Order: sequence, then C-alpha cells, then structure tokens
Amino acid sequence: MSRLDTQLREDAGIEVPLICGAMYPCSNPELVAAVSDAGGIGIVQPISLTYVHGHEFREGLRLIRRLTPKPVGMNALIEASSKRYHEKMVEWVSIALEEGIRFFITSLGNPRWICERVHAAGGRVYHDVTERKWALKGRDAGVDGLIGVNRRAGGHAGPLGAEQLLAEVADLGLPVVCAGGIGTADDFVAALRLGYAGVQMGTRFIATVECRASAAYKQAILDAGEADIVWSERITGVPVAVINTPYIQRMGLKAGPLARRLLRGRRTKHWMRSFYALKSIWQLKRASLDETGEKDYWQAGKSVAGITSIEPAGEIVRRFAAAAE
Ligand SMILES: Cc1cc2nc3c(=O)[nH]c(=O)nc-3n(C[C@H](O)[C@H](O)[C@H](O)COP(=O)(O)O)c2cc1C
Repeated sequence: MSRLDTQLREDAGIEVPLICGAMYPCSNPELVAAVSDAGGIGIVQPISLTYVHGHEFREGLRLIRRLTPKPVGMNALIEASSKRYHEKMVEWVSIALEEGIRFFITSLGNPRWICERVHAAGGRVYHDVTERKWALKGRDAGVDGLIGVNRRAGGHAGPLGAEQLLAEVADLGLPVVCAGGIGTADDFVAALRLGYAGVQMGTRFIATVECRASAAYKQAILDAGEADIVWSERITGVPVAVINTPYIQRMGLKAGPLARRLLRGRRTKHWMRSFYALKSIWQLKRASLDETGEKDYWQAGKSVAGITSIEPAGEIVRRFAAAAE
C-alpha cells in the first residue's frame, strides 16, 4: 500500500493527501485550481475570493471549475456572533453545494449545521482544531476528520507541537491532517510517517507562481528563517504568525491595555473581535497586493525555513507525492 493511500484521499476524492489551506488574503482562484489540478485539493476562502480577488462568489467557483475538473474544497469560518455574517455563510455553503463542492473545512464555532447540510449532499467535513477539547466538540457535531493546527502554523497557530497534538486526538477514531510547519517534501513524508492522514499547507503555497500575493511578500518568505516568525496580537486580537518586518516592529506585537480589557470582557469581546477583523481584513488585503513592499504586513509560519524558491503549485504537489511514494 502506498503511503499516500489515506482516509483524507478517500474523503476528498483526491490522489495526493495534500491540502492548500484557506488563506485570507492569499487564496486566489488560480492557486486553488492549480493545487487541485495536480491531485491535491485547494480550499476556497470565501472572503478572499470575493473581497480581495473581486469575484462574485458563484462566478469565482465557476472560474475555478473552468481551470480544473478536479475536486476543490471550501473553508467555512463559523462565527455566530454576527447574524449578517452567519447568513452570508449559509448562502455561501448553499452555493458551494450547488456548484458541486463536496469537501468543507470548518474553523471555530460549532460545525453541526454544516455537517448536516454537507452530509445530506454526500460530502465530507473536516474541522480545524488546536487542542483536544475542540476536537471533542467537532466529533460531537459529526465531523468526518480533523485538521490539527500546530504551533508552527501560519495564520492562527495552536499551542502544541505536531506530535503532541496527534497524540491528544489519536483515540477519537477520526483521520487527522497536519497543519503547520510543513515546507519541504521531507516534512510531508515525516508527517505521514507519524500517522497523519495528510497535510495542509499555507505558507509554502504563497511562494508559488499562481499565488497573486506581491513579489515582495513571496521574496520575504524565501528570505525568512524560523527566528523571523513572530506572533502578533494586533491583527485579530489573538496571536497570528507574521514575518518580523520593520512594520511589525513599529506596530509592536501586543494589543494595547484597553484592547486587551475589551477582548476579555464577556460583553465587549465579540465587538472587539469584529473591530479587529474588519480592520485587519482591509490592512491584509492592501499589504498582500502592494507591489512596493512598503506595507510589509505578511502572515507566514515557521515552514519559511525550508522554502527556497518560487515554484508552480502543481510542481510542489507532484514533488511531494513522488517523495512519499
Ligand atoms: C497568509 C495566511 C492566511 C491564512 N488564512 C486562513 C483563513 O482565512 N482561514 C483558515 O482557516 N486558515 C487560514 N490560514 C491557515 C492555513 O489554512 C493553514 O492551516 C496554515 O497555513 C498551515 O500552516 P503553514 O503556513 O505552516 O503551512 C492562513 C495561513 C496563512 C499563512
């Protein structure tokens, strides 16, 4: 049996158990399609598709479909505190199902309503988790698999290492995908050897020909080492992994005392998170597309250490698959 023959492969209907994770603002249709076309699976990030890259949601999905006939997935970030956002997400999930998407990755919140809708259509739902308690919630809501986001990940990293996180959730009987710190083919093979059912990468896929992020952002990923990745609370109110550029240094890594108090308060925390979310949605969009490189506000994880060249995304998928065979 091939090492690539995992439950994720079966659940997503793909050849290589390798996911291009949802990335706000870096998931553009061409990148999603390129990963899927090579046999992995690209995940659509709805706000990135519509707000950053300017596609009406259904049209964006159809554009991806014209680029590849292979399966693609969608990320549903569940945030119950905003009714408007929730209604939008319900609509996006419906459209995605109508357009043939059958693989969903949920983050935060309770994924039960998504599991019910997706299962009724014959699809599968994997849930992002950083610790056992979230994995138990996901399992109780009916998810089919887990994405274990470890402490080396780009975006919102978890507190645990890859091995420890897998050990915490291994007994739940669900396939677990490794997210965080995978930048090379050797890392990919090592994660499968540990017992992971696949890998989800973000940072590695930014440094690709198809990703629309600016040349300056991609170059910063090639140049950075592990020590250049720091965690900033100033983006969403909870730590996010970013490259330690002059802009980040000027801004500082901690939320101010007032913001911290508001983020902790029972009544104010949702409002404060929305404030951060709106502000960062705008700033990250501007920085990722800015070709001057002056707004150096770039998310990336520890996997930068192993990333040394800009490649076509499909080459990465094929190279990793060959190493695992
Ligand atoms: C620039 C960037 C943006 C991200 N945005 C999202 C997002 O919008 N939703 C999400 O669920 N995960 C997001 N992530 C996490 C990725 O989907 C993936 O889990 C993570 O990048 C894996 O770690 P790696 O960067 O070390 O490969 C983001 C990651 C990066 C690097």
